[in-house]
Amino acid sequence: MRSADLSLIFDMAREPRAGIAAALAALREGRLVGMPTETVYGLAADATDPRAVAAIFAAKGRPRFNPLIAHVATAEAAAAIAILNPDAERLAGRFWPGPMTLVLPKAAGCPVADLATAGLDTIAVRVPAHPVAHELLRSFGRPLAAPSANRSGHVSASEAGHVAADLGDRVAVILDAGPTPIGVESTIVRLTGDVPVLLRPGGVARSEIEAVLGRPLAAAVQGGRPSAPGMLASHYAPKARLRLDARDLRPGEALLAFGPSMPGNADDAVALANLSPTGDLVEAASRLFSALRMLDGRADTIAVMPVPDVGLGEAINDRLRRAAAAR
Ligand code: TXA
Ligand code: MG
Repeated sequence: MRSADLSLIFDMAREPRAGIAAALAALREGRLVGMPTETVYGLAADATDPRAVAAIFAAKGRPRFNPLIAHVATAEAAAAIAILNPDAERLAGRFWPGPMTLVLPKAAGCPVADLATAGLDTIAVRVPAHPVAHELLRSFGRPLAAPSANRSGHVSASEAGHVAADLGDRVAVILDAGPTPIGVESTIVRLTGDVPVLLRPGGVARSEIEAVLGRPLAAAVQGGRPSAPGMLASHYAPKARLRLDARDLRPGEALLAFGPSMPGNADDAVALANLSPTGDLVEAASRLFSALRMLDGRADTIAVMPVPDVGLGEAINDRLRRAAAAR
């Protein structure tokens, strides 16, 4: 074991047990782990812990919340969080474990945090083939949310050193299993409608997938032009209208508060949620989607107090603006 900037790096060829034990301890505390997979290194956290998932976004420095892939040890574990139709069963049977991610309807009672799926009713699921990822997932026993372990805007990390250089002490433990064998991300296929859609090309070739499905994959297009995979998720949109930057509360409104000071008539709110009474942006991010869901449907309008546009506040405000524009 060596340490760089307070993150512990384990050479998995020499000390595999110590590495897994340290990673499990970190994950149980809601901290982040650099996890090797066969494609690229992932920045992993307990997918069922909203604070841990918020810490992923904070560490990545992503100005917006992209939904994350939930990694699980087996296809059976995938079936506990997502609904696999016959196409999904076929692809899972042929390509899992491996570099293929399926976007599927969320299963009822899916324990993955709303923030990890950006509030969507769909979930991206993958069973990685890397032995270290497999061992970590098997022994942790819960899904791990993991984007590629790079800072936003940087290329994906295919070596443990890239993870350390990009993320420093934001990641508690890095499991160094050498360079990742594939080096590009997983192929992402969406199976939520009538037609299977290729959302992102990756480690499994399109032709192999089409051969298994017996039909072509539709191209992911938006406004006639292909766009980055993160742009392709159809975003959660509340039914209620959002009144942003609210410094007061009007009759009949629900209130989405932030911080310790509330409007004087906050008690009159039809429904109330405070993203973080102490003004902690990581806590606020972890509660954002569940709070919106809770308030939505309770009032026609949700008054949203201002959230500072720094750190995770930038992503929170991006999401709030989209939700406000959605109606
Ligand atoms: O190989 C990989 O897939 C790596 C390793 C670590 O597993 N992970 C990875 O994650 O590349 P990330 O977060 O960098 O890319 C995941 C992509 C994002 O573009 C995201 O928008 C998309 O998957 N995605 C996740 N959930 C989705 C959903 N429910 N609907 C549509 N797209 C989704
Ligand atoms: Mg990425």
